[in-house]
Amino acid sequence: MDARALKIEAARAALDHVEHGMRLGIGTGSTAEEFVRLLAEKVAAGMEIVGVPTSERTASLCRELSVPLSTLEETPELDLTIDGADEIDPALSLIKGGGGALLREKIVAAASAKMIVIADATKLVDTLGRFPLPIEVNPFGLASTRIAIGAAAEKLGLSGAIVLREREGKTFVTDGGHFILDASFGRIPDPRALSDALHAIPGVVEHGLFLGLASLAVIAGSDGIRTVVP
Ligand code: 5RP
Repeated sequence: MDARALKIEAARAALDHVEHGMRLGIGTGSTAEEFVRLLAEKVAAGMEIVGVPTSERTASLCRELSVPLSTLEETPELDLTIDGADEIDPALSLIKGGGGALLREKIVAAASAKMIVIADATKLVDTLGRFPLPIEVNPFGLASTRIAIGAAAEKLGLSGAIVLREREGKTFVTDGGHFILDASFGRIPDPRALSDALHAIPGVVEHGLFLGLASLAVIAGSDGIRTVVP
């Protein structure tokens, strides 16, 4: 099975957890987009749900496919969020933000009673950190914030390149108007300590470590679907 087929299988398995009347957080990325396509079929067949998208990109796909949308202002408490991830460890700690939507993704996940992660098996790791950690920062004071991130990481025994994300030769700007620094620290043995250290830096808006948010992961591999709980 190719990578896209695996993403579709994970999305299809997660759809079994969606019930009529649910208020859904809808993730961002190629796997989440497969979920939106399948959800749209259910909606067309009569299932009533309302979705809060985690990015403008997801919102636009939902509109195109007539998936009903709401906002966290109108619908501040959600039943379930379904989203992809860049890395998943056995405790269901995640790295997210490869698609640059980590801030809204984290706000939406935190507003949800449950979060289900959908992914293909390549996203499973023993220890987080193979994927560079996305850190969303305020453009003001970028150079100082980058130095502070490096120093905070060093205190935890972590080091590596911290690179300003670019797309097509331009600085990538998030839906919230912020920049992203991708930090290649390698293995992160204590994600909680790194999360706390990053949150203590004023220029850091949010980071891509999702700790204690996911309640289930639905993983598609060549040997079928498996679920992981924390
Ligand atoms: C976007 C994300 C995505 O969920 C993550 O990057 C996984 O994307 P994909 O399903 O395309 O592999 O965190 O900010």
